[in-house]
Amino acid sequence: MMSPFVLYARPQYETLVDPDELSISKDKSADTNKTNYLNVLKSVEELVQEHREKVELESHSRLKRLVPNIGNFFTELPLTKAFEMIDNKHAIAARRFVPPSFNDIRRILNLAQVLAIAPQLKLITFDGDMTLYADGKDFEHNSNLVGLLIQLLRHNLNVAVVTAAGYGDETEKYEKRLSGLLKGFKESDLTPEQLERFYVFGGECNFLLQLKSNCKLVYIQETEYLPNGVRDWSDDDVVSFLNCAEKNLRRCIYSMNMPATVLRKTRACGIIPNEGVKISREQLDECVLSTQAHLFEKQNKYDHPSELKKNTRVNPKVAFCAFNGGSDVWVDVGNKSIGVQLLQRYLKAGPEHTLHVGDQFLSTGNDYATRAACCTNWIVNPEETETMLTHLVEC
Ligand code: IMP
Repeated sequence: MMSPFVLYARPQYETLVDPDELSISKDKSADTNKTNYLNVLKSVEELVQEHREKVELESHSRLKRLVPNIGNFFTELPLTKAFEMIDNKHAIAARRFVPPSFNDIRRILNLAQVLAIAPQLKLITFDGDMTLYADGKDFEHNSNLVGLLIQLLRHNLNVAVVTAAGYGDETEKYEKRLSGLLKGFKESDLTPEQLERFYVFGGECNFLLQLKSNCKLVYIQETEYLPNGVRDWSDDDVVSFLNCAEKNLRRCIYSMNMPATVLRKTRACGIIPNEGVKISREQLDECVLSTQAHLFEKQNKYDHPSELKKNTRVNPKVAFCAFNGGSDVWVDVGNKSIGVQLLQRYLKAGPEHTLHVGDQFLSTGNDYATRAACCTNWIVNPEETETMLTHLVEC
């Protein structure tokens, strides 16, 4: 007997609609849109190129005048080529009522960056949560990213996870978070040299670990990679800094009546929501911004007589990162810019040879700092990381 499903399986319009009869023709506005978008992107490409040349000459570019706080571009950006590739797939120019969105632009910039850096890439660093795996979860073995990261190592690239998650030298805690990936490495045909090109920088820039050929992580002593003058603060400086951060985080919990507790670590202090509670983004951002402001104010007053008396000084040398982790807030000693730069120095890779991939590029996020140290890709979830890596390995 014929299944009733068959009646629905073949859409009826296939036989009923004749495109000639309806005279469906390609919308001309798509071509006009495409030409306009390409013209705009060509101009931006030229602005970026001029900016790069002017930075070398230490003079001001047109882009600098338009966007005074613009940073450096470590490679050129082939935006028109990236747009053509994305438009072929997502038909951005064919949209008549919805103009290119923030996300469209972010994806065009990401692809342009991947196209530019691919031939010269030496070091690729990844944020952890929401970039390689879901928030607070472990790296799963069945993730497509396992195979893609193996391909990167097979291309003899240095690969590192630069994460805020800080567990000191407790290697087994990092191994647990990365368990699915490490299992994939173990099952792979990677050589010992390739495996040893995989690193983890925990606590932003505080705890460096390297993979060994038995697929176990080994803690690297600071003396092996830390030059003088970087992370240049004493243990006492760290304690006073964290005391000050903790005090403000507690004040936030109290004043906004937040159902949360404070967790203090050796190089970090955070606000953790109580079991089963979700704190609003606005409240988390308020904690970040008010703590940032409080710490900067304290650092500015370092030599002020009233601070000397109370012994509550915060050394301005202490670099830090206060950020909204999506469901929690953290203040870490150091930041990912330092983490990436230490890796670059250790692995002999310049900013134009380094790409950092992360999801936290707003000013309250902890990937933002890497923009000063290397090229970046701003993704919003592990699926987007997969898409960008697929492009990268195809280049
Ligand atoms: P990332 O996105 O890989 O940089 O990890 C950020 C998340 O790591 C935060 O949102 C926290 O949930 C978690 N985490 C665990 N330990 C720490 C720490 O010591 N400092 C900051 N974040 C931490």
